[in-house]
Amino acid sequence: MKIIIEKDYESLSTTAANIIKEEIEKKEDLLLGLATGSTPIGTYKELIRLHKEEGLDFSKVVTFNLDEYLNIPYTNPNSYHYFMEENLFKHINIPKDNIHIPDGNAEDVEKFCREYDKKIEDCGGIDLQILGIGENGHIAFNEPDDELYLGTHITGLTESTIKANSRFFDSIDEVPKEAITMGIGSIMKSKKILLLANGEKKAPVICELLKQEKVSTRIPASLLLLHPDVVVILDELAAKNYLKEI
Ligand code: PGA
Repeated sequence: MKIIIEKDYESLSTTAANIIKEEIEKKEDLLLGLATGSTPIGTYKELIRLHKEEGLDFSKVVTFNLDEYLNIPYTNPNSYHYFMEENLFKHINIPKDNIHIPDGNAEDVEKFCREYDKKIEDCGGIDLQILGIGENGHIAFNEPDDELYLGTHITGLTESTIKANSRFFDSIDEVPKEAITMGIGSIMKSKKILLLANGEKKAPVICELLKQEKVSTRIPASLLLLHPDVVVILDELAAKNYLKEI
């Protein structure tokens, strides 16, 4: 695991966007795995700037998003379809057909999940996967548990995730209780992974992860310790507890 500690959220976002840019420049038809949540918003802003001001070309890039709530209309500003459109896709030159986001409104969601994994494989596998991390150590919606699913699947959200995500909704009761998420196996198959974390709230889980003492399905992100090419980018607040330990 390569660890980069940046001063603040802005420089974290710039560094992350530059790594994505380098990968796109190396491979114009990059298969890019994307995340939602507050963490990657700054990175997406910087990618939009790189596109508009420096001509970064997304016309051949293919994206697969990690997750989506179940049964949420895509016109709902809290749906991840809406989030991606607003925070990235509508500002760059990516063709609509190159965008893939789990369909929480599919008629047969389980069939959709199987097909989603197959599509990723048929496209050659994810080259670069962007990840945030939950305060409870989840990645995508792979929540702490005794067992973790490998492939894309339907999952219930834990109380702590519902509480954390309620900040985007009018009330906690409106937060969907289920989602579709790529599994740990789908994520681990990515050739390169970029894990981003900012802010004090992430400091305890980041410290636990970076101590690199053990893997546990109770901290799903710890499985990334087994991956050969993970870059972790933190701001100083998220790195705080870890820096005290070393
Ligand atoms: P956040 O969410 O970026 O909004 O903190 C990250 C996550 O829950 O994976």
